Amino acid sequence: MHDPRIIVALDFSSADDALQLANKLDPRLCRMKVGKELFTAAGPQLVEKLMAMGFDVFLDLKFHDIPNTVANACKAAAKLGVWMVNVHALGGRKMLMAARNAIAQGSSSTRLIAVTLLTSMDQDDLADIGLQGQPEQIVERLARLAHDCSLDGVVCSALEAVNLRNQIGKDFCLVTPGIRPANEGQTDDQKRITTPRQAIANGANYLVIGRPITQSSDPIRTCQRLNEEICDIIL
Ligand code: C5P
Repeated sequence: MHDPRIIVALDFSSADDALQLANKLDPRLCRMKVGKELFTAAGPQLVEKLMAMGFDVFLDLKFHDIPNTVANACKAAAKLGVWMVNVHALGGRKMLMAARNAIAQGSSSTRLIAVTLLTSMDQDDLADIGLQGQPEQIVERLARLAHDCSLDGVVCSALEAVNLRNQIGKDFCLVTPGIRPANEGQTDDQKRITTPRQAIANGANYLVIGRPITQSSDPIRTCQRLNEEICDIIL
């Protein structure tokens, strides 16, 4: 059974652009992430098309609302048949439990993960909304909460992955963005970046990679190279 570790961030504004890239890629080498921009523009039909092409889809809509609303949104995602969906851990225990109950563990193939803190927020931003403490402590606390509520994992930076893997254990899925291939100078707007190899060595299970693949002149070759970089260290 193949389990591609690369999730391509389809950060496009239209279905045509997303499908044009998907046509150049191979579901044996990568999965696809559909976020708020693309989903708002192209909707569930696009997700269905990607799945019909054989791709697993991570629906990155970061649900955050009252428990009943989030539960129903999660049910809709599971019904659509996506491989993974996410919610904000900051929605709290009741919301996380409602999401978990809506996508019952074991009875659905949809994985449910949480976003801890948005990496765009620094300590001042956190203080503004009344969250005291170091971002790393808050990330760990929210990841533990997600684990307590039986979620399948969290999105985190590859730099946070080491600590979360040690603290929470091996059966917790860590999905890490901020990845840039080795020997490539381009970081775009990402600041705390990691190579694919380092991210996996740090304990990441899946790597969210956007522009290095979406802007590549040869996306399938880039995807192959990224897989080669990690193939010997995957457990
Ligand atoms: O192009 P790039 O590889 O930087 O894309 C990374 C993807 O991961 C984007 O879709 C971005 O929104 C997402 N992401 C991130 N950092 C986070 C959470 C999500 O870059 N902390």
